[in-house]
Amino acid sequence: MSKKILVLTGSARKDGNSNRMAQAFADAAAAKGHDIKVIDTAKLKLNFCHACQTCYKTGKPCSFDDDFNVIAPDILAADALVFSCPVYWYSVPSQIKAVIDKMFSFVIGEKEGFFGKECALITCCEEEDPAILDGVKIPFERTAALNKWTVVGEVLVPGVFSVGDIDKTDGIAQAAALADKF
Ligand SMILES: Cc1cc2nc3c(=O)[nH]c(=O)nc-3n(C[C@H](O)[C@H](O)[C@H](O)COP(=O)(O)O)c2cc1C
Repeated sequence: MSKKILVLTGSARKDGNSNRMAQAFADAAAAKGHDIKVIDTAKLKLNFCHACQTCYKTGKPCSFDDDFNVIAPDILAADALVFSCPVYWYSVPSQIKAVIDKMFSFVIGEKEGFFGKECALITCCEEEDPAILDGVKIPFERTAALNKWTVVGEVLVPGVFSVGDIDKTDGIAQAAALADKF
């Protein structure tokens, strides 16, 4: 069955390691007949969540109008969300975190379409210790559990720093294989 899969990428680095994996996933998933959209959060104009809880009061998901409101329909319409980003300072990079924070509006707005999706994670970091990836993995898994999303797979690649380092690992192959899980 063809699924509508939204890939949210979170690295501004051209041809970076996470973006290369996200593209490998997107290409493989498209080849399987899925409807794929990739949104590069690093290209969006995004403010932070003000926790005002006035979500949808202006008719838009976020009262502080920015590109989150532009991509919100894509998030709600997706059967599956794939998050792709590196580790920054043992945590989630701010560009994609701003999108994740603003997803709070769907919870406040009680948007049915937001809950019960499938999801997956693609992430990488410089350090060799796989536990470094927990800074992205744990928030992702807890967010999924809260929103009743089913985690179908995770691609977790430590030990990559420079552009091209991903080619010294099986990260691209793992990301392509992730498409088989949807
Ligand atoms: C601002 C910044 C913070 C980073 N923090 C970490 C870190 O805490 N731990 C780590 O292992 N790598 C860290 N890195 C390295 C990146 O995770 C690594 O280079 C990764 O391959 C970048 O992925 P990308 O090419 O998709 O942007 C950091 C990189 C940057 C630019």
